[in-house]
Amino acid sequence: MSDNQNTAPKKGFLARHAMIERSATLLMVLSLAVVTIGGIVEIAPLFYLENTIEEVDGMRPYTPLELTGREIYVREGCYTCHSQMIRPMRDEVDRYGHYSLAAESMYDHPHQWGSKRTGPDVARVGGRYSDGWHVDHLMDPQSVVPESIMPKYAFLARTPIDAKYIEDLIRTQRFVGVPYTDEMVENAAADFLAQADPDSDYDGLQERYSNAQVRNFDGQPGLTEMDAMVAYLQMLGTLVDFSTFTPDASR
Ligand code: HEC
Repeated sequence: MSDNQNTAPKKGFLARHAMIERSATLLMVLSLAVVTIGGIVEIAPLFYLENTIEEVDGMRPYTPLELTGREIYVREGCYTCHSQMIRPMRDEVDRYGHYSLAAESMYDHPHQWGSKRTGPDVARVGGRYSDGWHVDHLMDPQSVVPESIMPKYAFLARTPIDAKYIEDLIRTQRFVGVPYTDEMVENAAADFLAQADPDSDYDGLQERYSNAQVRNFDGQPGLTEMDAMVAYLQMLGTLVDFSTFTPDASR
């Protein structure tokens, strides 16, 4: 019976489809038409949306010290082992916390989403460990996590940093679209130093950058790359308050 069906001459719609299958040119022209329609349906709405990044309270440009830590993070290639994007899937949200919002990386130039997780995602690592833990871990990861394969970054603690280029760095970030104000640019060097010095006058810093954490991040005198790195890591994922955040579907 099935033989009968297979050998029976094709009729109607199927017969016309056979025509397409036998003519390579016709097949290509029609495929192109289908792909074009699909493309328009996907891309056209993007031109009519006012904003593809949701607005969230709390996001602010990075402080000069956090930004310096971020530069070191990029320089050292931490993104080759760590992602900074929690995907909206159950296992990820259970492990790392609320999935990452587009707004949370809107001031990242370049973004650090990453595509490789040899180590865990660090998008919300801020506040999860003490500063001391981070210092010990960066100095010698195996001292706190014996099975770790993360390299040592002890040289960060031996590399002093100063405020010489911080204003240029902030200006560059502003040039690519980060909304640093004139006041932030003018005070870049002072804010840079104030954040790691709890004895300084850091009111201005905290006015300009909400929730900026001020302390001696590495617990050692002097300002090193370790201070900047720990300041950056402790800020990650802490800017948006998720106890008050509600996704707004209308935006
Ligand atoms: C060769 C891959 C590799 C590189 C490069 C690397 N890490 Fe890691 N990292 C790991 C692994 C694996 C772990 C998990 C074990 C551990 O805690 O050490 C980890 C853990 C961490 C953690 C703890 C995360 C958590 O939630 O427990 C932090 C923070 C971290 N790394 C920061 C960094 C920073 C900053 C850099 C760059 C200076 C860096 N890592 C470079 C592999 C790497």
